[in-house]
Amino acid sequence: MSIGAVRDWSILRCPSCQAKLDGTDTSQQCTGCAQTWPVRDGVPALFRDSWVRGNDRLMRHIYDALPSLHDPAVTYMLPLWQLEGSEGAMRNRYLCRVELEKLGPRADGRPLRILEVCIGTGVNRRLVEQWLPKGLQVDYWGADLSEGMMAVCKKKLAKQGFSDVQLVMADAHALPFADASFDRVFHVGAIGNFSDPGQAMREMARVAEPGTPIVVVDEQLERDRSHNLWVRAWFKALTFYDSNPHCPTEAVPPGAWDVLEEQLGRFYYGLRFRVGAAPTDIAAERAVDPAPAATPVQRPRSRGKASSPAG
Ligand SMILES: C[S@@+](CC[C@H](N)C(=O)[O-])C[C@H]1O[C@@H](n2cnc3c(N)ncnc32)[C@H](O)[C@@H]1O
Ligand SMILES: [Zn+2]
Repeated sequence: MSIGAVRDWSILRCPSCQAKLDGTDTSQQCTGCAQTWPVRDGVPALFRDSWVRGNDRLMRHIYDALPSLHDPAVTYMLPLWQLEGSEGAMRNRYLCRVELEKLGPRADGRPLRILEVCIGTGVNRRLVEQWLPKGLQVDYWGADLSEGMMAVCKKKLAKQGFSDVQLVMADAHALPFADASFDRVFHVGAIGNFSDPGQAMREMARVAEPGTPIVVVDEQLERDRSHNLWVRAWFKALTFYDSNPHCPTEAVPPGAWDVLEEQLGRFYYGLRFRVGAAPTDIAAERAVDPAPAATPVQRPRSRGKASSPAG
């Protein structure tokens, strides 16, 4: 089976009408509106080019053209540009909000599923493993629009031994999954270029199990702190497509609760929220937080403010 190939077709849905799909290894057809969707090397393309507009389209071209620059830029250049921090420390500051250590096998026997919206080159997969209770099996799904980033992602996952990640080409504004399919949903690094961040967060909430944490991370220059010209110029360059890079707390879905906005570092915010009732499958959510079986190299530290619940 090819790296990134989908194995569990049961949760995939038509991104146009949400009906179930049916088909073969090379093409899937919607059982509702009858549109067909191509599948290449086991990875379905569940979006239409014409849907991808504005900054989403621009960023897709950039990521497709320069996918191999992403990881070195984030690992080596970002700490220089923002004059602080390591990549791993920053990533652990948001992964702690995903509450992976609270997961346990589901009582209904269904596999535990984690969705990374905009998986990019797949850097988070290995870090997520460090937060999961030891030995816990999860189905990890990644959605992204860039074929170039997906190609780098596949190579990396194969090298790291995570070749069972299931990949889908999809637009974050129209996730091709059934409601409540995932036990955890998170997104890092692109919502600032989305044409409609609110729509994307509603989609994340729709495909998440009710009550589970949904975590969104992207650029925001730390407030209440002075920044020199070097820092301000790099932040501006990195967010050239956005006139007001900020945490989109105003666009969390209606009824969101447990809303937490925090600054994760000089350039990045983290936003966590939940929608719907608290999880009922108590086997999948440990009520108390036991010592995680796997402790990340550096325990996350957060700073900044917690906002009040939106609803
Ligand atoms: C900065 S990378 C982040 C990758 C990864 N999440 C990480 O933390 O390293 C942003 C990714 O978002 C993807 N992307 C941008 N807009 C998108 C959209 N509307 N739908 C799906 N993916 C999108 C890009 O193709 C790119 O792979
Ligand atoms: Zn359809």
